[in-house]
Amino acid sequence: MRTYRIVVIPGDGIGPEIVQATLTVLEAVQRLNGGFRLDLDERQAGAGEYLQTGRNIAEETLAACRAADAVLKGPVGLPGVRLPDGTEAGLLGGVLRTGLDTYANVRPARLLPGITAPIRREPGEIDYVIVRENTEGLYASRGRGVANDWAASDVLFMTRPGVERVCRYAFELARRRNGKRRVTCVDKSNVLRSFGFFRSIFEEAAAEYPEIAADTLYADAAAQALVMEPERFDVLVMENFLGDILSDLAGGTIGGIGLCPSANIGDEAAYFEPIHGSAPSLAGLDRASPLGQILSAAMMLDYLGERDAARMVEGGVEHALRWGALRIGADGCPVDGTRAATAAIVSALQDVTGSGS
Ligand code: IPM
Ligand code: MN
Repeated sequence: MRTYRIVVIPGDGIGPEIVQATLTVLEAVQRLNGGFRLDLDERQAGAGEYLQTGRNIAEETLAACRAADAVLKGPVGLPGVRLPDGTEAGLLGGVLRTGLDTYANVRPARLLPGITAPIRREPGEIDYVIVRENTEGLYASRGRGVANDWAASDVLFMTRPGVERVCRYAFELARRRNGKRRVTCVDKSNVLRSFGFFRSIFEEAAAEYPEIAADTLYADAAAQALVMEPERFDVLVMENFLGDILSDLAGGTIGGIGLCPSANIGDEAAYFEPIHGSAPSLAGLDRASPLGQILSAAMMLDYLGERDAARMVEGGVEHALRWGALRIGADGCPVDGTRAATAAIVSALQDVTGSGS
């Protein structure tokens, strides 16, 4: 039996309930697939952990994340729990992204059946992946900015190896997806030198992949194009801060970030999380959408090499949405609640049996 060691971080706010929903789906998938087993190691981290221990993640937990085959992480952070510098204490982006050197933040945007999106498109017409550089860019200044009463500064920092590896990742992904086989570099090289540097390294990488089309777009124009002509995109690669903003915009076009999974991939470690936050106002109410978390688990299965199981989870979600067993309201929450949504997906798994729906 193929066995994978998975660290599970339930997180804060709605985290524990959507992670529980995801574990329920993963149990059913293991049962139906029969070829692999997930060995779960649950660890606390985030704002709750910070309140209890004064640290948002224990050194030992970080080591466990490094040693695991993958990490499944819920949303973390609580708005009231702050560090002395005013930033949120529970957030783990700095620790897990820079700490584990997970340099490619992979954020698919796919319009699913049965979802009312704010733009008029059919499923299949919006299907692209934003690859957000995850360890440098403007957010390299996380925790290092300077400010006094009359001025403040954060630095946008890029390195050649940092840009090279994320651009190559984007081209490899375009090759693997075998869709439109195009990578679009999004930047502001018309204004800032750092982005000119990013673009020139992108162009060098593009030359290594002659079979993949490469184009470039300024970030402001990209914001418009993601809304007006999303069908043109396949893989997009961009600096950290731009990727943060544009991946939420992408989420908006497909019915909300509650539906959006992500993967944080490095050479030595990888973790999987929804792109949304911990939504404390929904916590404990059986209202939150587990879809971003469940689809993140599908990305994890794919990363582990369990492609059939990954397709089964995605197929189950799509099947339940297509046939109305799972309905998502205008607020992005499942109409019948978190647990009913989970049950609908679990029962749809049997109908897809690994082949997609
Ligand atoms: C995300 C989040 C994080 C980020 C926050 C919570 C620090 O918005 O994963 O996109 O800005 O990277
Ligand atoms: Mn974000």
